[in-house]
Amino acid sequence: MTPRFVFAALFALCALCTFDLTWAASVPKGFVSVKGSQFQLNGRPFNFVGANSYWLPLLTEKKAVDQTFKQMRAAGVKVLRTWGFNGINGTELAGALESDLTYYQLWNGPEWELNEGPNGLQRMDYVLEAAAKHDIKVILTFTNNWSAYGGLEFYVQWIGGAGATHDTFYTDPRIVASYQRYVKTLVNRYKDSPAIFAWELANEARCRGDLPTSSACPKSGMLTEWYREQSAFIRSLDKNHMITTGGEGHFFWKDPEDPTLLNDYNYNGEAGEDFDADLALPNIDFGVYHIYPQYWYAPRDYPSSNFSLADWGVQWIKQHAEAAKKANKPVVLEEFGYFGLNNKTQVFPRWVGAALQTKQNGVMPWQFGALDLVEPDRVIKYADAIIDGDSPNDGHTIYKNQTFVYNIFTAAAAVQKLRSL
Ligand SMILES: *[C@@H]1O[C@H](CO)[C@@H](O)[C@H](O)[C@H]1NC(C)=O
Ligand SMILES: *[C@@H]1O[C@H](CO)[C@@H](O)[C@H](O)[C@H]1NC(C)=O
Ligand SMILES: *[C@@H]1O[C@H](CO)[C@@H](O)[C@H](O)[C@H]1NC(C)=O
Ligand SMILES: *[C@@H]1O[C@H](CO)[C@@H](O)[C@H](O)[C@H]1NC(C)=O
Ligand SMILES: *[C@@H]1O[C@H](CO)[C@@H](O)[C@H](O)[C@H]1NC(C)=O
Repeated sequence: MTPRFVFAALFALCALCTFDLTWAASVPKGFVSVKGSQFQLNGRPFNFVGANSYWLPLLTEKKAVDQTFKQMRAAGVKVLRTWGFNGINGTELAGALESDLTYYQLWNGPEWELNEGPNGLQRMDYVLEAAAKHDIKVILTFTNNWSAYGGLEFYVQWIGGAGATHDTFYTDPRIVASYQRYVKTLVNRYKDSPAIFAWELANEARCRGDLPTSSACPKSGMLTEWYREQSAFIRSLDKNHMITTGGEGHFFWKDPEDPTLLNDYNYNGEAGEDFDADLALPNIDFGVYHIYPQYWYAPRDYPSSNFSLADWGVQWIKQHAEAAKKANKPVVLEEFGYFGLNNKTQVFPRWVGAALQTKQNGVMPWQFGALDLVEPDRVIKYADAIIDGDSPNDGHTIYKNQTFVYNIFTAAAAVQKLRSL
């Protein structure tokens, strides 16, 4: 049979199939792609519960990486989100070598140096290799709003120099070129890997960071333009993997029904994002958002107040479902946390329930806890430590022995699996 005939025969057969031949022909096998408001994997819808774990590439023992994936898999996790950045200053190098810290970028001047060694990108290579072995796909984030682990402030300080504001990251052509040099390194390294779920432009990009912003950023669309430019850049390097922002999902509502939202950071464009405009960008394939009302609204929730942090979260979940529906793209509840085990048992069933009821495509709590790792007791960096084989606990970590909370997510994973047939 000629290839043309085979194609025609398949096409005729596929009048009966549920999958779409254009899609099947355009993305390699094992890659997740978007079709309307759905993720697709090998011709089937793909809905998931995922895990956040920034510390996984910081492990020094391959065995501990495998243990972590094994525990994630047992919990029903299908997607992992982790940091694709780890930058250090030259002054930190001696300490980093001594503690066997993973780092990818070394900054001694405006030109960072790449570390492809065994304590560098080889650790990321192994994370992706192990992910593939355990049938888990990875969202890789290129930089961070925070300085933590070498975020975008490093570019601003080293390239922009003294006095440069946080938001010059989005506009200074020298900084943009430097960021793109890093992005290109990672994309070219992994663009053929089906272990990558999606590329993510930045964790929680905002107008301000540890450094202040200039007045040019808030409410200006500057961040949306940056998302547009960087997502197009990645698409030019890699046609097959999906791309998302990594943002918290702030809205910029100019004429809200509730006028008090004009003074609310999450709705008034002050933060820099515009969830609706960002999701409409041609190379942003799906929406993501985060929920931390204890940081954002704590003073408004007190006994006898008419404001509840838990209710606020439910509303935020519904608002993002509506926005995604309007954009006809998938949406992922990508990070959420609530301090206190009792609080978690009260709040998470409502939030996870709301996300599932509104048919969201992914639910990813911050953050996954691993137990009994073979990794030696060690401080990773800052206060992040592996102790007695337990992965770091920032008060948001969910370990398997927190049975009720853990089971909220295994149950949700079962629901998402049923929605993936
Ligand atoms: C890294 O070095 C730069 C330049 O000396 C400095 O401005 C910045 O504060 C340092 N950052 C950290 C996190 O050490
Ligand atoms: C971005 O960085 C600043 C400074 O550390 C912090 O105030 C802000 O909360 C950060 N964004 C998020 C979402 O954490
Ligand atoms: C809730 O309480 C605040 C502060 O007491 C008040 O300003 C606001 O009007 C109340 N909102 C509703 C809907 O009752
Ligand atoms: C539970 O949540 C409330 C409201 O945010 C907070 O005040 C309290 O400290 C939390 N409990 C724990 C143990 O963190
Ligand atoms: C579960 O394991 C963690 C980590 O070892 C520990 O801190 C915690 O006390 C254990 N029990 C519960 C109920 O969280």
